[in-house]
Amino acid sequence: MATAASGGGRSCFVLGASGQTGRELLRELLARRAFTRVTLIGRRRLSLGEAEAAVEQAVVDFERLGEHAAAFQGHDVGFCCLGTTRAKAGADGFVRVDRDYVAQAAELARAGGCKHFVLQSSQGANAQSRFLYLRVKGEVENLVNAVGFDRCTILRPGVLLCKRQESRPMEWIVQQFFGAVACVFPTANSVPVETVARAMVACVLQPGEEKVKVLENRAIHELGKAVPQQGT
Ligand SMILES: NC(=O)c1ccc[n+]([C@@H]2O[C@H](COP(=O)([O-])OP(=O)(O)OC[C@H]3O[C@@H](n4cnc5c(N)ncnc54)[C@H](OP(=O)(O)O)[C@@H]3O)[C@@H](O)[C@H]2O)c1
Repeated sequence: MATAASGGGRSCFVLGASGQTGRELLRELLARRAFTRVTLIGRRRLSLGEAEAAVEQAVVDFERLGEHAAAFQGHDVGFCCLGTTRAKAGADGFVRVDRDYVAQAAELARAGGCKHFVLQSSQGANAQSRFLYLRVKGEVENLVNAVGFDRCTILRPGVLLCKRQESRPMEWIVQQFFGAVACVFPTANSVPVETVARAMVACVLQPGEEKVKVLENRAIHELGKAVPQQGT
């Protein structure tokens, strides 16, 4: 498997680059020089220090995403780590961000020439679930699939293990529990964000025959670990 690349003239965009996974993904993309051009599409400009020169940033209004079609033009690959929580945005806001914004971005990406869309979903995603979170994740997977990319990779991580600065008490408790479980069953229900990010990059560097590929938590671990960590 290819583990490093020189960009090969390819370009990608990242949605959600300011988040826990998105930040790691950006670090990984830049460290591996996997793409010649990297565009961050977000609702605010990010201060990235030295990395700022290596990326383009498009600040968009997600409520008027159709007016920002240009930001999605000309990228071979699109990565999506976008998401909010019900606690932060309310139920309607959660659906709007995690389903509607993502589905609309996928449509614009396809119209702009994107061939491979990589979506960070969730373990247990299921459009028929009676739980809002899992149902919305299942619905957005279906919507993104329906866009008809040449390739679509859906990652379904378990609980993300990360050091989040923002206070999310419930998530913190869940992380402590699954962090302990991970000592015995490391690939069952949780995954470090660094591993997710490596798996996201690895899946685009691999040739893929399948039009739609779903990576469950264990497969994310395997793919993420198959790639040497930067600096090792
Ligand atoms: N937490 C878990 O254990 C877990 C488990 C499985 C799957 N997931 C899913 O994995 C994905 C990434 O999770 P994460 O924890 O890495 O994300 P995160 O740290 O919460 O970051 C979310 C990203 O989405 C952006 N965003 C949020 N609300 C927005 C809005 N209204 N308009 C525009 N952008 C908005 C944020 O931008 P700003 O910085 O501007 O707010 C940020 O870049 C999410 O879809 C999540 O549901 C999470």
